[in-house]
Amino acid sequence: MEQLLRQRCLAGESGDRLPSVRQLMSELAASPVTVSRALKRLEQEGLLQTQPGSGTFIAARKSTRPRLDLAWQSLVLGAAPPAAALHALVSEAAPGSIMLASGYCDPSLIPVKELSKAARRALGSGSGWGRAPLSGLPELRAWFARGVGPDYSDEDVLVVQGGQAAIHTVFRAVTKPGGSLLVESPTYVGAIEVARALGVELVPVPCDALGVVPEFLERAFEQSRAPAFYCQPLHQNPTGSVLALERRGEVLDIARRHTAFVIEDDYARGLTYGGAAPHTLASQGPGQVIYIRSLTKCLAASLRVAAICGKGPVLERVAAARVLEDFFVPRLLQETALGLVTSRAFERHLARLGRVLQERMQTLQEALAARLPEWRPVVQPSGGFHLWLELPPGMSAEDLSQRAARLGVRINAGSGWFPAEPPGQYVRISIAGATSEEIRQGVERLALAGGGS
Ligand SMILES: Cc1ncc(COP(=O)(O)O)c(C=O)c1O
Repeated sequence: MEQLLRQRCLAGESGDRLPSVRQLMSELAASPVTVSRALKRLEQEGLLQTQPGSGTFIAARKSTRPRLDLAWQSLVLGAAPPAAALHALVSEAAPGSIMLASGYCDPSLIPVKELSKAARRALGSGSGWGRAPLSGLPELRAWFARGVGPDYSDEDVLVVQGGQAAIHTVFRAVTKPGGSLLVESPTYVGAIEVARALGVELVPVPCDALGVVPEFLERAFEQSRAPAFYCQPLHQNPTGSVLALERRGEVLDIARRHTAFVIEDDYARGLTYGGAAPHTLASQGPGQVIYIRSLTKCLAASLRVAAICGKGPVLERVAAARVLEDFFVPRLLQETALGLVTSRAFERHLARLGRVLQERMQTLQEALAARLPEWRPVVQPSGGFHLWLELPPGMSAEDLSQRAARLGVRINAGSGWFPAEPPGQYVRISIAGATSEEIRQGVERLALAGGGS
């Protein structure tokens, strides 16, 4: 009888409920004591699980595969995993928690219908599975070039797989191990981690609400002789600042005097809340600026299409660096991106995206002003996903973000965005991955975590 029950457990699916003791008695023609004993033994063997009040279920099967001895790998791989902070940043939230740490839009902001239409058309073209030119589809390159400025053409553009890949490729092409690179402080974790992985020393340049401070940039170039300055002039991650128009010419002049490139990461193009965004820095400094633009933020995280634009030998260097890790972006994806960005649906989508992001940012700021007024926004963002806040004296951003996670809301402690020591305690709260209602609830939980009233 017990053997029959065992076979039944092994044949069933884990989670299947067993019939009641009474039913088993009649099915197996056994006494209640025999059935109960058999169930108990099978439970001890780990084949069954009893949940009081609910019944008896077939237990999840333990793997029968032998455990691998992998300890030797630590010896071979050595210390600390590279890019741990970036890995943590991009990891997904635990199910059920409110995501105020996302760098990508939640599904309600992705133009799924329009993307699907463009993807179907790309599939139907019949060319989507073939190889693509190494530099990208000429029409897509031309579209990116038009967005950079009037001095650019398709020949100045290389299509790559997302902004992160673009940063990696450009840094590899322009910097040397043991050399240095100037960056805004604070700046994007992904750029910091790439530079570190390449063995490049980061030189932080202080910023204020108007972007990088020109006299500090001058000093940093003088001291470091760095070949480039990496920056995000539009809705900077994490602060949200926009490089002031009156500083732009000066930034380019300083770089020119020091025979250096400016790497413009225009990741937030299309995320401005209302009105026109300033032109690219590259439009003011052709030849001097290496420009990066990605479609993942304003369209969809998996539309991993970005462009690197530049003029002269640098673009050949970048192309040579890129081909070592990847040949071209899947043609199907490029055709889909091209179909969408050249349709009228794209402008409509951007207009809606800007409106919704603005509403969310307003909701966030109102909720914070009501519940946590002592958390001080450093910049009033006019676009983008992030609000950068300075915490009151004595409050630890790391402790706060951990307490918040335990209460089911994810925010980012700011330390990872500083290439050198953080000068204070900051957090980054992001609106891309949460609706206005979730943002309100998230702030309530933050008030509990942060001890607000
Ligand atoms: C400033 C900045 N640049 C580049 C990226 C990379 O984005 P993706 O690789 O998805 O285009 C990010 C992503 O968070 C970012 O914040």
